[in-house]
Amino acid sequence: MRTHYCTDLSKEDIGKEVTVVGWANSYRDHGGIIFIDLRDKTGLLQLVCDPADSEQAHKTANEVRDEYVLIAKGKVRARGEGLENPKLKTGAIEIIVDELIIENRSAALPFQIGDKNVGEEHKLKYRYLELRDPAMFEAFKLRSKAAIAARNSLDEMGFLEVETPILTKSTPEGARDYLVPSRVHAGEFYALPQSPQLFKQLLMVGGFDRYFQIAKCFRDEDLRADRQPEFTQVDVEMSFCNQEDVIEVAEKLLKDMFAAAGIEVQTPFNRIGYNEAMEMYGSDKPDLRYDLAMVDVIDIFAKCQNEIFSGIAKDPKKNRIKALKVPQGDTIFSKREMKGFEDYVRKFGAQGLGYFQMKEEGLKGPLTKFFGEEELQAIVDRCELKVGDVVFFGAGPKKLVLDYMGRFRIFLAEHEKMNLIDENRYEFVWVVDFPMFEVEDGQVKALHHPFTMPKNLDVEDVEEIESIAYDIVLNGVELGGGSMRIHKEEIQEKVFKLLGISDEEAQEKFGFLLDALKFGAPPHGGFAIGFDRLMMLITKKSSIRDVIAFPKTQKASCLLTQAPSPVELEQLRELHIRLREKQQ
Ligand code: AMO
Repeated sequence: MRTHYCTDLSKEDIGKEVTVVGWANSYRDHGGIIFIDLRDKTGLLQLVCDPADSEQAHKTANEVRDEYVLIAKGKVRARGEGLENPKLKTGAIEIIVDELIIENRSAALPFQIGDKNVGEEHKLKYRYLELRDPAMFEAFKLRSKAAIAARNSLDEMGFLEVETPILTKSTPEGARDYLVPSRVHAGEFYALPQSPQLFKQLLMVGGFDRYFQIAKCFRDEDLRADRQPEFTQVDVEMSFCNQEDVIEVAEKLLKDMFAAAGIEVQTPFNRIGYNEAMEMYGSDKPDLRYDLAMVDVIDIFAKCQNEIFSGIAKDPKKNRIKALKVPQGDTIFSKREMKGFEDYVRKFGAQGLGYFQMKEEGLKGPLTKFFGEEELQAIVDRCELKVGDVVFFGAGPKKLVLDYMGRFRIFLAEHEKMNLIDENRYEFVWVVDFPMFEVEDGQVKALHHPFTMPKNLDVEDVEEIESIAYDIVLNGVELGGGSMRIHKEEIQEKVFKLLGISDEEAQEKFGFLLDALKFGAPPHGGFAIGFDRLMMLITKKSSIRDVIAFPKTQKASCLLTQAPSPVELEQLRELHIRLREKQQ
């Protein structure tokens, strides 16, 4: 229908006869001449309907309302002197309309297209109206380009795109499954895949050597800004490789995907060990756009006269005393503000938050009285304090201290007075050498998944066993993760034993994988990148919902289709399901 998209036209087209189509973004009557801002996916273009040029166009324009669908034929001309709109890409030109067709009408809108102050409920119910905003379209255009770049990049590296089942058996990514009842097998259920993990390993046993998939994954877990119940992974697996080979593929893939969005990234990425990341940044996904690293001072506090601190310092394996230096904090924050920080960390279980100020005459602060000269100097040296700096202390059980000090680090970096975050920086880091297991309430759990290859399985303390697993972190967001897998049956059995998974349970849940390992499974490993998260970071959005065409709410419902929704009794009967009465 069209000769040009709205923003394809410019001063160079002056005098051309064109046909443009789209929606009436706005209209106004100026002394008998009607101006319409026509909008398509690319942006806005001004139509001028002057009765002196075309009676028909002017008469039709009188009927135009917001979001009417229009076809306009006319000539491109320059806007008059002083009438150019520098905010618009097409602000120097307009179309003198000869013929205007109203192709379709629109009901009154629930909100204006592009309005940023619309409630989430409203926006998601009328998602297609929100998507009409060219700014939204731009994000999806980048998403499409990145997906195509991923396919091309992996294809070039010899990977084969293979689809794996959606109706399947539970996979072990650690979230709750979405279940689908079977009509044919009464009382039995499929699970939607939390990832293609087991199938991609089976493809390696099948000799495919290099697999990838842009895969839908389903997880029934608590939702956050970077979590949706269904999301997309760029999922990769390869054989006869080691961690270095996998990392090389992942870096090339990410580089190519970012390049498709016009962003150049430098490879190889930095690396940090899991333990180091936890000790320095209190997180296994550190944001390295800023420094604010924590320093261990437990040995210095062991010598202080405060019983609480010296008590904590007695067990340096279980406990931590961490210092976090804020350069020039004394000039940035008032004493009251610094006291207020304590309330912040208390929310995450801290008992308190001590601090010292570095003055000309030395360290100042309520805690200094418990320390001798030598210890105070040791703190100054260890933290490399300069006059004007402030140093905060967190003390207590290791896990708790690392957690709240890590959060405090981010809180400080995001504080408007600190202004530490450069939004235009992309800081990738590999977090490597993850522990194989974590122990929670006496129960041993796999930190990644139970098919991850351990490094040192014979170590006595399970918490000391490391795995060949790695996460790729970007600006404090876990973008993806992966590992080398166990390809030998006897190692897999040992791991299951440590996890307290009995032979019967292992056979019942993963029997098909264990069987496959018996038939000459090659060494293999891989990774998966959260595609929605990647696009969220590329497009600088604050939620992955902004890069998913039809996302779900925090409560996992789709406001557009009203899913989930009740079904007919007959459907349930066929599925052999009887509902419990709803609790009142
Ligand atoms: P993992 O569970 O770490 O690994 O997931 C990989 C990446 O997927 C993204 N992701 C999510 N994105 C949006 N919403 C969610 N609910 C969600 N959950 C995860 C994250 C995450 O880093 N099979 C393994 C990969 C492997 O070992 O090869 C896996 O799924 O960005």
